[in-house]
Amino acid sequence: MNFGDNMGELQRRIAATHEGGFRRKKTFEALAIQKGQKLIDLGCGGGQLVHEMALAVGETGLVYGLDPSSSQIHAAQEKCSEFKNVEFLQESAIKIPLKDGSCDGLSSIQALEYIDDVETVIAEAKRILKSGGRFASVSVLWDHWRFHGPDKQLNDRIHEVFRAHCPHQMLPFSLTSILERNGFQGVSLTPLSFINTHLHQNSFAYFASRTLSLFALKNGIPEEDMMTWNDQLKKADQEGRFGFNSAPVLTTAIAL
Ligand SMILES: C[S@@+](CC[C@H](N)C(=O)[O-])C[C@H]1O[C@@H](n2cnc3c(N)ncnc32)[C@H](O)[C@@H]1O
Repeated sequence: MNFGDNMGELQRRIAATHEGGFRRKKTFEALAIQKGQKLIDLGCGGGQLVHEMALAVGETGLVYGLDPSSSQIHAAQEKCSEFKNVEFLQESAIKIPLKDGSCDGLSSIQALEYIDDVETVIAEAKRILKSGGRFASVSVLWDHWRFHGPDKQLNDRIHEVFRAHCPHQMLPFSLTSILERNGFQGVSLTPLSFINTHLHQNSFAYFASRTLSLFALKNGIPEEDMMTWNDQLKKADQEGRFGFNSAPVLTTAIAL
């Protein structure tokens, strides 16, 4: 999926919801950050986590935010403009432009599942981490990411189209073996599942429905069907039978 312009804006709104903040909190805690450390966030998006990490490592530390999308990097630079201890790299995580053993910790929130060659990214993560460096990444079990309320047939068709938005639908289930093959130990998985039962304008589900709609429209679902689906979501919300569920998983590990 291309995170430029509208999609990037929607993604940053999703990250600003309570559920977006909860993922950052769990990732942040898993890194056990100390003052003076060097950290990197892969697929940093709008820079929210970089901002939080920069405060924690302080002036003697350094935080890199890496993302290939120019619109995400611009938003992240704006978000972190007050910091001197932040550097943004407009690059792919396939080849990280940092020296071997240069980071104490590495995070990545909902980014690895968008990268075809995850194995190479994890080898790069191992290369740039110091021995004992911490890895913390959140990826979604997309088979369990779902809206409830619209008519089943239309709802199924729209979710099926959305599967094409990322190449790894169930990455948490294969990430452990990828990490172990590449020299990480102590791999641990923590489910961060949540539900929304309302579609209000600061809910994760609201921005997720707009993201899905934008993607589906560009990928063959007619505008009329998307309008029907969105009307059915609103009706389900009004009638008290709306639901949205997502199953993100935090994976943590230590570089050997
Ligand atoms: C769903 S967004 C998540 C952004 C941010 N981590 C957050 O939680 O708000 C996925 C991000 O992964 C980035 N991305 C896509 N391909 C990438 C790659 N090859 N290397 C690094 N980041 C990538 C996208 O540009 C996008 O900003």
